[in-house]
Amino acid sequence: MAVFISKSVQNTMDFAREYSKTLTAGSVVLLNGAMGAGKTVFAKGVAQGLGIEDEILSPTYAYMNDYSGKLYHYDCYRLTSGAQAEALGLCDYFYAGGVCLVEWAQNIADVLPPNCRSVNIEIISKNQRRIVYE
Ligand SMILES: Nc1ncnc2c1ncn2[C@@H]1O[C@H](COP(=O)(O)OP(=O)(O)OP(=O)(O)O)[C@@H](O)[C@H]1O
Ligand SMILES: [Mg+2]
Repeated sequence: MAVFISKSVQNTMDFAREYSKTLTAGSVVLLNGAMGAGKTVFAKGVAQGLGIEDEILSPTYAYMNDYSGKLYHYDCYRLTSGAQAEALGLCDYFYAGGVCLVEWAQNIADVLPPNCRSVNIEIISKNQRRIVYE
């Protein structure tokens, strides 16, 4: 585990862009943190790092956004069980060879693949975040 202290949105984006270089095809990263911590901001930085030019929008209502099979961005906030994710066909993408970023993964803990990495983002103050990552 390592720690990065972010002082701004741009700082988090830049850090995530660098972090994305440590990912490989099929990497599943659990983005943990409270509402408004910066999980989606982090996802935007990763997308930039992966060379994805589409705008990254929060997938809250769609549960998962597919960026050309390169990146799958999940928001499991509204899911209440792994079985629900399974029934919606969301689990297949964990094994599809793209990078997966999962917000609110704890809601589907029982269907997550083994060997996920995690990034924990804590709010320190209005613009500061403590990012603990592996
Ligand atoms: N250093 C920082 N890094 C990231 N976001 C920051 C930072 N400082 C302030 N913010 C603000 O925090 C908010 C983070 O929003 P974001 O949508 O990324 O949160 P989230 O963790 O995805 O929340 P949710 O669980 O609701 O999806 C934004 O409003 C952003 O401007
Ligand atoms: Mg979000």
